[in-house]
Amino acid sequence: MSLKMFKDKYYCGLDIGSQRTRAGVIRVKNPMEIELVDVFENPTHGFKDDSVKDLSELSECVHSTIEGLSEKVGIRIREVALGIGSYWVDANETSTVIPLIDKGSKVITSSDIRNVTDQARILGTKMDEEILHTICQEFTVDDNRSAINPLGLYGRKLGNQQMMIVADVNRIRNITKAINHAGYDIGNLFFNSFVASDITLDEEEKKNGCVLIDIGSRMTSIMLFRDKALRCLKKINFGGDNFTRSIASELKMTFDLSEEIKKSYAAAGNYDLYEDEEILVKNESVYITLKRAQIYSAVNPQVDNFLEQITGAINDCVGYQNLNCGITLIGGGALMPGLIEKIGESVKMPVKLGKLNVFSQKKFSNLAEIISVVGLAYNAYLKTLKYGVDAKGHSNWAKILSNKIKELYLEYF
Ligand SMILES: Nc1ncnc2c1ncn2[C@@H]1O[C@H](COP(=O)(O)OP(=O)(O)OP(=O)(O)O)[C@@H](O)[C@H]1O
Ligand SMILES: [Mg+2]
Repeated sequence: MSLKMFKDKYYCGLDIGSQRTRAGVIRVKNPMEIELVDVFENPTHGFKDDSVKDLSELSECVHSTIEGLSEKVGIRIREVALGIGSYWVDANETSTVIPLIDKGSKVITSSDIRNVTDQARILGTKMDEEILHTICQEFTVDDNRSAINPLGLYGRKLGNQQMMIVADVNRIRNITKAINHAGYDIGNLFFNSFVASDITLDEEEKKNGCVLIDIGSRMTSIMLFRDKALRCLKKINFGGDNFTRSIASELKMTFDLSEEIKKSYAAAGNYDLYEDEEILVKNESVYITLKRAQIYSAVNPQVDNFLEQITGAINDCVGYQNLNCGITLIGGGALMPGLIEKIGESVKMPVKLGKLNVFSQKKFSNLAEIISVVGLAYNAYLKTLKYGVDAKGHSNWAKILSNKIKELYLEYF
């Protein structure tokens, strides 16, 4: 298909974080030319302690964020890919086996694969759970032959193991209502930390083993990838706000002032060079002088606590030992100076800050913070590829049809 046949398409992601609500737009000129156009953000309102507290406040917050983005990029946005944060998601592991034939064996077709994966999915979810992602872990043919893709193999029984990322239906309904009230449709629902992996990890990393850590304001999610799939998801009830609260209580300051101080002066570990530096801050109309060492002392016990939890969570994942491609950090919490080095020392693996791997971005310095929202928009685009055109821009209907005919033949003859 000629590239000229593609009209520019825009996809919008919406990430309602505990602290910031972000919307981001990507432009797809053609499958080889994708660009991050812009991101716009506002403080989150109407959503607190992981639930919708006030529908109209949240609607207003969503509306002003998307309108702000619309104005910035000069396009009208009607539909968004909504990100569900780690506070709402759970990872369900499920497995099942189906018989294929009474006697002997048969060639496994895609309808057999569909049957077993559908069954595993039904068995692995509760009535009040919405499935955001289904991640195939493994197939087994007969009792013990494991296969990555069993299509075309001979077998009598077919088993499937899956991980499903699910979220509570009612919570999703509430947030959907707020977004619809704001005047937008939800085209897709994704777990935002998970879809970030598609734009910040490359295929080699996912194949050889790596960890993606999203440090938000209230929660941290830890995802281990190997053999191109998510193998383990852990959540830690700890985020950047824990450091802020620690500064607020140790130095007797408001949360907002502590947040500013943290972003400008805090660091994980000891930065001896700056320890004696004095900082003048205005705390409730009174000016006070602080030493930078006081900020480090307020933050560092929490850093140690955080490192212990991260190390424990990674060690709890099966297969964490041989992660050849180390750790990538995303989320605003990852921006604290010194944290990358501290996590590396604690986990004994190379650690880096996430960046955009798949397409061009011109002007963004705070990539770790916005990767999730860009991942949402990018995954909305990827969804459209599934049935239409492949990643090289070729229509794949002919291949699908010929595979179907082959399968029908194998099924009945
Ligand atoms: N430069 C910085 N230094 C230290 N911390 C920072 C910095 N910039 C942002 N943060 C922290 O990052 C956190 C916000 O990160 P992010 O925007 O990813 O969270 P969120 O998406 O709103 O939260 P969640 O994912 O938990 O819902 C806050 O705790 C903020 O203080
Ligand atoms: Mg977040």
